Amino acid sequence: MNTNERSGESDPVSQVRRDMLNAVCILLGLGASALVAAPVVGFLLAPFLRPKPRLWRPVGRLQDFQVGQTVQVKFARSNPLPWDGFLAETSAWLRRETEGYLIAFSINCTHLGCPVRWEKNAELFLCPCHGGVYDDSGNVVAGPPPRSLVRYPVRVTNGNVEIQTTPIPLV
Ligand code: FES
Repeated sequence: MNTNERSGESDPVSQVRRDMLNAVCILLGLGASALVAAPVVGFLLAPFLRPKPRLWRPVGRLQDFQVGQTVQVKFARSNPLPWDGFLAETSAWLRRETEGYLIAFSINCTHLGCPVRWEKNAELFLCPCHGGVYDDSGNVVAGPPPRSLVRYPVRVTNGNVEIQTTPIPLV
């Protein structure tokens, strides 16, 4: 028996071997964890990374909208997720300008995305969050919004008014 074994001290070469084995075990453990976690993380993130399709959504019959009126319409988003609940729907402000011309404005303020409301008597869109004000064409007239309200493409097919879902840049 040598002096190191008697005193309980290990020799430096054995200590280095133990440290290396520990490091290898930790690296193998991390690698195995990453292999198991990668598909799960991919599955959870996939819905957010998928490109959002642009779909035409019906919002009502043309005769339901009177010329000169702006009304709120609801429609299904293009990429609802199973857990979205009521968030699977969104809405827009739709105005029938003339017999055959309609405009659909996003309800989201271009400042921080709060929903704007149409003030019929003033003919303005008002944002309750920071006082953003838009005219009846969606142009900014007061407050912090940096851009006009986003417009959705609108069409009439067989008497049905349809809005095309479009990703809305919020900031
Ligand atoms: S979110 Fe509309 S003014 Fe700020």
